[in-house]
Amino acid sequence: MSIEIKNVFKTYKNGDEYTEVLTNISLTIGDGEMVAITGPSGSGKSTLMNIIGCLDRPTKGSYLLEGQDTGGLNDKKLAAIRNEHIGFVFQSFNLLPQYTALENVELPMLYANTSPGVARKKAREALITLGLEQRIKYKPNQLSGGQKQRVAIARAIVNTPSVILADEPTGSLDSKTGKEVLEVFKTLNKSGKTVIIVTHDPAIASETNRAVKIKDGVIEEV
Ligand SMILES: Nc1ncnc2c1ncn2[C@@H]1O[C@H](COP(=O)(O)OP(=O)(O)OP(=O)(O)O)[C@@H](O)[C@H]1O
Ligand SMILES: [Mg+2]
Repeated sequence: MSIEIKNVFKTYKNGDEYTEVLTNISLTIGDGEMVAITGPSGSGKSTLMNIIGCLDRPTKGSYLLEGQDTGGLNDKKLAAIRNEHIGFVFQSFNLLPQYTALENVELPMLYANTSPGVARKKAREALITLGLEQRIKYKPNQLSGGQKQRVAIARAIVNTPSVILADEPTGSLDSKTGKEVLEVFKTLNKSGKTVIIVTHDPAIASETNRAVKIKDGVIEEV
């Protein structure tokens, strides 16, 4: 899916105080691209990812997803777009500790009213794709960091989203494991998915087709 951010501003209000976090951001990402977003802590990377992922809205400006202006959509429609088209991966994996790898991948599908049999089949397939066939019944505390992140990626791709958003997905991993996880994203990108990765790691940014640098809410270089 193509992503078109046009003159986007984001301002947070705390009491009487306004903080402008994104200032006039314009960014177009074509269908099937793999892009890294870099920049110092607090520069607005996660804020931008939240807007791209339809978890939040711009204060001003427009965001078109596959040519459709999301500004006119209500929260329910935005949630539907998010569930159908976007997969999220986070630095801290966000797995539920009491559940197995299989259950963690199944859970979002069960919430979305997928039948339990279909959810189980899809979850198994996604975990096998990520090389975790032998770890399906393991709980998160029995998995290595890289394995946990692969479970989280399986969960993100199980609904076959066309866009994958990963916010510091290698931030909790050693560099070798981080490279392996990056290879998973590259494979997903080769299979046609649009992949956007926030990273502090120049070695990871240099492996993508394109790197966008944000500083103080402004795009510095593309
Ligand atoms: N809900 C909020 N209310 C007020 N300010 C916020 C809110 N969310 C984020 N901010 C502010 O917006 C700025 C950008 O935050 P953001 O999380 O986008 O940064 P980041 O580039 O992802 O940083 P990091 O690399 O540390 O994750 C920060 O100064 C933060 O304090
Ligand atoms: Mg962040």
